[in-house]
Amino acid sequence: MSKVHVLDHPLIQHKVTMMRMTETTTKDFRELANEISLLMAYEVTRDLPLKDIEIETPICKTTAKTVAGRSIGVVPILRAGLGMVDGILTLVPNAKVGHIGLYRDPETHLPVEYYCKLPVDAEERTIIVVDPMLATGGSAVAAIQFLKDRGCKDIKLMNLIAAPEGVKAVADAHPDVEIYIASLDERLNDHAYIVPGLGDAGDRLFGTK
Ligand code: PRP
Ligand code: URA
Repeated sequence: MSKVHVLDHPLIQHKVTMMRMTETTTKDFRELANEISLLMAYEVTRDLPLKDIEIETPICKTTAKTVAGRSIGVVPILRAGLGMVDGILTLVPNAKVGHIGLYRDPETHLPVEYYCKLPVDAEERTIIVVDPMLATGGSAVAAIQFLKDRGCKDIKLMNLIAAPEGVKAVADAHPDVEIYIASLDERLNDHAYIVPGLGDAGDRLFGTK
């Protein structure tokens, strides 16, 4: 069973509430998505491996910790996942970024792949898959499977808002993947939208509706 982390720091809860509000503008919605992603990235990277290096402070030589090796790959699920990338890169500026293009078929709600480009050394990195919404879980399950098919072994999933149905789908299909969310909402509606959710994350991020 996947480990599910609900990152309910007060600042994260406050910002998620602002994202939910219908009157929040595209500009504010975008800024909030990045701010929450930065805060969440702090927890998602908590177990990054460290190594000792020798350094010299103004006082003396010493041994100190630094992040070991090629560490992070951030993989947004297009298009809405793009809204979380800059926040993570503010915290982890050397991370490489891959892209997986998926959209939900409006009739079947099943994910359709249209793009995939990953860092060449993706399989050596801890991959953080990002998407604001985990609804049925179809998109996340498919994206994680693409990554595993390309050799990635250390994968984490980071969403802003999840439905219980989506969490279960990912946990069933990929029990090795830890899931980090800012809010576990009530359910899906008949159109597979999260309730109460925040509406269509891609449209709200990019102002397309
Ligand atoms: C949204 C969202 C997820 C997906 C979640 O993307 O960003 O990728 O739906 O739904 P699921 O868990 O049921 O698969 P959408 O298909 O609306 O595409 P977009 O990002 O291009 O707006
Ligand atoms: N995709 C979204 O953007 N919002 C939802 O609530 C579900 C899927």
